[in-house]
Amino acid sequence: MFITFEGIEGSGKTTQMQKLAQRLGNAIMTKEPGGTPSADRIRAILLDTTSELDPVAELFLFAASRRQNVVEVIRPALERGQVVLCDRFTDATLAYQGFGRRLNLDQLRMLNDWATGSLRPDLTVVFDLPEEVGVKRARSRNATATTDEGRFEAEDLKFHRRVREGYLALAEAEPARFAVVDANGTVEEVFERMMSALTARAPQLAA
Ligand code: TYD
Repeated sequence: MFITFEGIEGSGKTTQMQKLAQRLGNAIMTKEPGGTPSADRIRAILLDTTSELDPVAELFLFAASRRQNVVEVIRPALERGQVVLCDRFTDATLAYQGFGRRLNLDQLRMLNDWATGSLRPDLTVVFDLPEEVGVKRARSRNATATTDEGRFEAEDLKFHRRVREGYLALAEAEPARFAVVDANGTVEEVFERMMSALTARAPQLAA
């Protein structure tokens, strides 16, 4: 089973994914951009605030990072029968490069399929919260971080609002795959919400 975790900046998805991995015990975790040594180098270019990237060049770097992660990490793990948890995946490209940067969604879907060999998540959790709350959390986290990963947090609130609305539109179009979880609340409250949304779709995760 392949489960992806999505949401705007500061929505708490990484913490929740880690908690789920602990609960499941045998899952593997990966993230995008990144997840392999070469993809981590692409990540640095994508997130460094000093990178000046054209939107299409940015898109291709996300696709290159994703390809490497699918080939090296995700597919081999799924073939071994492991549960794979991925912090962002193809829907991030639709939300950020499509709704955020306004690139063409059909072209993005084609590129996603090309990069992944048409691998689709079985389940996708979207952590939803108002953009002003998420961006504030993410910016304060960045202020104390040792690596410069602030390029997207530096976008204005209108950009993050489009990304949020994009995720909600994607979820509405595919309700069987997507679970939208209200990300307001304590880590435990949000985790319980996520678990009930996930087990409603995949009862085997309740074990
Ligand atoms: P991430 O490491 O998940 O950052 P955070 O934990 O702060 O949410 O993602 C890095 C950034 O990359 C994030 O701002 C979203 C962006 N992104 C895209 O624009 N397109 C993509 O396809 C992916 C995977 C991420």
